[in-house]
This record gives sequence, structure tokens and C-alpha cells, in this order.
Amino acid sequence: MKQVTLIRGDGIGPEITEAVVKIIKAAGVEIDWDIQTAGADVIETEGVPLPERVINSVKNTGVALKSPVTTPIGKGFRSVNVQLRKDLDLYANLRPCYNLPNVKTRFDNVDIVVVRENTEDLYAGIERQVDKDTAESIKIITRKASLRIAEFAFDYAVKNNRKEVCIVTKANICKLSDGLFLECARDVAAKYPSINFREILVDNCCMQLVQNPNQFDVLLLPNLYGDIVSDLCAGLIGGLGIAQGANIGKNYAVFEPVHGSAPDIAGQDKANPTAMLMSAIEMLNYIGEKEAGEKIKKALFKTLEADIKTADLKGTATCSEFTNTIIDFLVD
Ligand code: NAI
Repeated sequence: MKQVTLIRGDGIGPEITEAVVKIIKAAGVEIDWDIQTAGADVIETEGVPLPERVINSVKNTGVALKSPVTTPIGKGFRSVNVQLRKDLDLYANLRPCYNLPNVKTRFDNVDIVVVRENTEDLYAGIERQVDKDTAESIKIITRKASLRIAEFAFDYAVKNNRKEVCIVTKANICKLSDGLFLECARDVAAKYPSINFREILVDNCCMQLVQNPNQFDVLLLPNLYGDIVSDLCAGLIGGLGIAQGANIGKNYAVFEPVHGSAPDIAGQDKANPTAMLMSAIEMLNYIGEKEAGEKIKKALFKTLEADIKTADLKGTATCSEFTNTIIDFLVD
């Protein structure tokens, strides 16, 4: 039986985790979950939000399904997510964004995959207070990290029958840092003649995305622009409740929804488990359970088509009702 680390998180984390585990079981996939807690609640008992045991578990299983965790503001703890990505060298953040059935959005047929470099740029955390009126953050871009994320994006495009990779930078202003990222992407693009390669500046990209998102296929971005643009893309397909994500490295992968712990609706059975479920479907593909993933996706789509939706999608179903309907469609 395949072992997978399950990080339950906090806020709505435990509710959506329970829903997804139930659905996977109903689909007939037997997983030996190594359940790990992390986040705000863990600080009280273990002193840190991401204890070493969580990292060790992922190192042991190789793959994790993670629900959101709260990062307390101003308490001196590094974000659990940033820490996990760093400790496990999860250098690629992958966010497929496509329309789901019966989820009304401004545009139809959006099908964009955002590939975000996950380890450096302004997220390297190199900041200093120069004097009381000046602060400084350093943007790090290296050839090694830029080449490997570009290779990831082009490999992904080939394996998933995508036609184009569009690289998004601000290389006209950040001439050295974004310039290096762009140079590396161009070098890698030259090795993939079957994939079209396009360059765009990030400001123009944002405008084009909200005017005509259907022109984009795979987007490749450094960390900060990737963070912002991937949320923009989540908005295009109906919001955080349905936006899936994955952090992938050479040896390990962590699949997680894009959204946070939603403390405003925690414990009320209101959360939409779709983003967590879509992330779990990608996790199932990753561990070789593609067929089960497809089966679950079909049941999810049937549920949405039957107009069973949670409040964030203007529906009236609770998280439990939504989950049970998916399970009913699974056995249909
Ligand atoms: P959030 O994503 O938790 O919530 C933003 C809004 O979207 C809220 O109104 C919330 O109710 C709604 N929402 C989010 N997910 C939903 C779902 N599945 N179903 C229905 N509604 C949903 O963002 P916020 O409030 O900025 O962050 C809350 C906490 O989450 C913070 O402590 C933050 O650090 C943490 N966070 C954790 C992430 C992770 O673990 N990957 C990612 C983003 C934030």
C-alpha cells in the first residue's frame, strides 16, 4: 500500500482533509496516510509551526497532500509553506487553472498552467533595515534555479501536449536579474523546437490575462510574479475554493490547494473542498493512480453540473453535503 504524508493544517484544513480522504477511500484507493499536524495549533505544544517530524515524514514517503496552515503574523516564525519548499527543495510551483463545469466566470475555455520558480527571487528572505527610514530586500536569481525551472516548464509542456510556453518577466527594468531568468529560458527553449516560445512583460501579461486569457497556454515566471499571476489566474476560473496547486522537486512533491486556512469560515461546514480535491487528484496521478483520479474528477464534475455547490460558488450545500454527493456519483 502506498504511503502518503497527510498534513492536516488548521482553520478549514481538517474539514477539507477529512472530505478528501473520504472521497479517495470511496474511489477504492487504499492509501496508508502518515498523518502529520502543523500550523498555529502545533506552536502551543511543540514550539514551532513546522516540526522536524513533518519534514522527515515527507522525506520518508516522498509525497504529501497538504491542507492550509495559518502562519501567525509578527511572531518571528517563517511561513510553513516557504520552509517546506526550502527544506525539501520543491523548486517548481505548478498551478493548472481551467474552467470547471457550471462555475460561472467571465471567460469560458480558460486553460492555463502557471509554472512558478519556488525557491529564490524576493522570497530568499534577504532583507535588512538600512536605517530607520530605509529597508532593503534582495532579489536573487541564479542560473541554476532558472535553468531547472525552465526545463521543468518545457518538459511539462511536452508531456502534457501543450503548445506554447510564455515567459513572463520585467527584464526591461530588472535587466540583470530578470534578464538572467529570460536568458536561461531562451537557452532551454532552443532545445524544445516542438514547443512555441513567447516572451511578455509581467504588466502587459496581467492586462492580457484579464482581457483575453484564452491566448495563454503555459506561463513560466520567477517567484514573485508567479505568486501574483497565479492568484490572478485562480480568479479567472472562479476563485480560491477551486484553485489547485503542487510544489514539486527532484525527490519530493507536496500537493496543496492555493487557498489559506480561511479562519472566517472554519468549523462551520461551509468550506469548499474542491481545491483540495483537485490537488489530491494530481497527487493520485503522481503516485500512479491516474484512473482513480479521473474517476473522482468525473464525480466532482457531475456534482457541479447537478448544481450542488458550496457558498463560495453561490450554492447552498455544506462541505459534507457536497462531499457526500461526490461519493454518490462515484458509485453510480
Ligand atoms: P484565505 O485563502 O484563507 O481566505 C481568503 C477568503 O477566501 C476568505 O474569505 C475565505 O473564507 C475564502 N476561502 C478560502 N478558501 C476557501 C474554501 N476552500 N472554501 C470557501 N471559501 C474559501 O486567505 P487569508 O484569509 O489571507 O489567509 C488566512 C490564513 O491562511 C493566513 O494565516 C495565511 O498565512 C494562511 N495561508 C496559508 C496558505 C497555505 O497553507 N498554503 C496559503 C495562503 C494563506
